[in-house]
Amino acid sequence: MPSLTRLFPLLVLSGSAFVNAATYGLSENFVGSSFYSNFAFQAITDPTNGRVNYVDETTAKSKNLTFASGNTFIMRADDTTVLSASGPGRNSVRIQSNQQWSTHVLVMDIQHMPQGCGTWPAAWELGNDWPNGGEVDIVEGVNDHGVNQATLHTSAGCTMSGQKQTGTTVGTDCDANDNSNAGCGVQVNKANSFGPSFNANGGGWYAMERTSSFINVFFWERNDGTVPSDVKNGASSVNTGNWGTPVANFPDNSCDISSHFAPNNIVFDLTFCGDWAGAVYSSDGCPSDCTDYVNNNPSAFTNAFWQLNGVRVYT
Ligand SMILES: *[C@@H]1O[C@H](CO)[C@@H](O)[C@H](O)[C@H]1NC(C)=O
Repeated sequence: MPSLTRLFPLLVLSGSAFVNAATYGLSENFVGSSFYSNFAFQAITDPTNGRVNYVDETTAKSKNLTFASGNTFIMRADDTTVLSASGPGRNSVRIQSNQQWSTHVLVMDIQHMPQGCGTWPAAWELGNDWPNGGEVDIVEGVNDHGVNQATLHTSAGCTMSGQKQTGTTVGTDCDANDNSNAGCGVQVNKANSFGPSFNANGGGWYAMERTSSFINVFFWERNDGTVPSDVKNGASSVNTGNWGTPVANFPDNSCDISSHFAPNNIVFDLTFCGDWAGAVYSSDGCPSDCTDYVNNNPSAFTNAFWQLNGVRVYT
């Protein structure tokens, strides 16, 4: 009998330790105009060689390429200007969080993502000194084509094996120096995970959990009956232990996550053509030539906008 009574506190202890391991508290809640105070507008040359001209915050506001009201934050491309072939690319916006995080959960409630032939939107994280600080692409795709792809890009010596996920692995070598920086990608097996069908469906939630031993990506479309209530309600804490199998799982079986990933910033951007969207533009069934199309058809980019209902960081 004495040994039995001693068991109870042990069981309680290990039970709560397990729960705590997957529970995170709300640290940041970016909604509406708070994006302006917590993200920097990066008027930089696109590192992916896109047909884009990233504008600063003042320009973005004056041209209404960014807009905040209530719980809505919008950032978009110019959809009125015909571009000169010899001039800069299409005006667009790239923002990066002021803060960085290591272990954390990111929840993004996305109403709309940029769409259109030639578009290459991304919601992602990256560290300093790329690729040594790591890169986690959570929402990414090109030319309205196919489903969403989540991808890691790292320094040498990180490969994926034994992934436990609902998505489909399309690359296992995360080293940015290999395979033209294709990274180790996972496609989400849900038609409404990207592009026009994501938007027509009212968007949904993407989440990413990063620990010292794995990175997981989750997706629930807007009307998914299984969306966890903590995700749906923007709760003050989240328990990833209740979220089910991730769409993409990047374990540490053959990749030391903690040494390949430094503290990361959150980035939202929209570029055009360039290294990925340009390279597969024709094979994705888009008309004419990517650069010509982007230059000459501003009205094709009326739906090339991000509309974010909220972005939350849990630690
Ligand atoms: C700016 O964009 C928002 C969102 O699309 C729109 O509601 C608003 O009318 C626009 N403002 C102007 C001055 O065009």
